[in-house]
Amino acid sequence: MASTSSTAVPRHVAIVMDGNGRWATKRFLPRIAGHKQGVDSLSRCVRACLERGIGVLTVFAFSSENWNRPSDEVSGLMELLALSLAKEVPSLNENGVQLHFVGDRQRLSDKVQAGLAKAERDTSANSRLVFNVCFNYGGRWDIAQAAQKLASRGEAITELSMDRAMAMAHVPDPDLLIRTGGELRISNFLLWQAAYSELHFSDKLWPEFDEAALDEAIAVFRTRERRFGQTSAQVSGQVNNDNAKAA
Ligand code: IPE
Ligand code: IPE
Ligand code: MG
Repeated sequence: MASTSSTAVPRHVAIVMDGNGRWATKRFLPRIAGHKQGVDSLSRCVRACLERGIGVLTVFAFSSENWNRPSDEVSGLMELLALSLAKEVPSLNENGVQLHFVGDRQRLSDKVQAGLAKAERDTSANSRLVFNVCFNYGGRWDIAQAAQKLASRGEAITELSMDRAMAMAHVPDPDLLIRTGGELRISNFLLWQAAYSELHFSDKLWPEFDEAALDEAIAVFRTRERRFGQTSAQVSGQVNNDNAKAA
């Protein structure tokens, strides 16, 4: 249903965690040091989401296009994923976080794939926060794989059937989409699901994105009027909504 934002926190926050490389370069460190710092920033962000009662957090950790980076950075990121899982999953579990990896796993090593599956299994009974890590993910991949799935089952392609076949079918669409690092683009993130997300761009580099920056994004979100195609008068209840299609 169409609604104006209130004092409530967004139900689903999605983040393009950008700026790790620049954070490291500014400090004359190798780029991978920025990615390591990015993992710490992500742990802090998960804690902050738990404290604020946000139900779903989705982060972009590695895009379909990030394979085009130098091979040492790509292998460093794969290694960091495996190490971070080992380090973070026990505390995620203790805090009631249900972990999902969203993306094409086929190109990942057997060992990494097994680690992802185990982390998902180990946290599947949790329900305080659904935490989606988009890894080897691309919005175009997601749309294509959903269409392929429906075609192989002989199902009609409709908005609803597509919704159900998408890799993020287990959560509602993001209410708030944040991108750190100052770039004003989507970079193939949630192309289907972000149709009506409120966008917030922060100049902070991801390793510097702290609780105050998250609170600022939430505060800005609360000032937005979400109209979902309706007029402002309709949304605020000043005129009747006879023709309004339930969103
Ligand atoms: C985002 O930070 C993390 C990944 C894409 C893996 P970047 O590595 O893109 O950082 P910048 O944009 O080069 O600063
Ligand atoms: C987007 O950041 C992908 C992730 C944060 C994982 P990029 O740094 O890859 O985006 P572009 O290349 O600047 O668009
Ligand atoms: Mg970048």
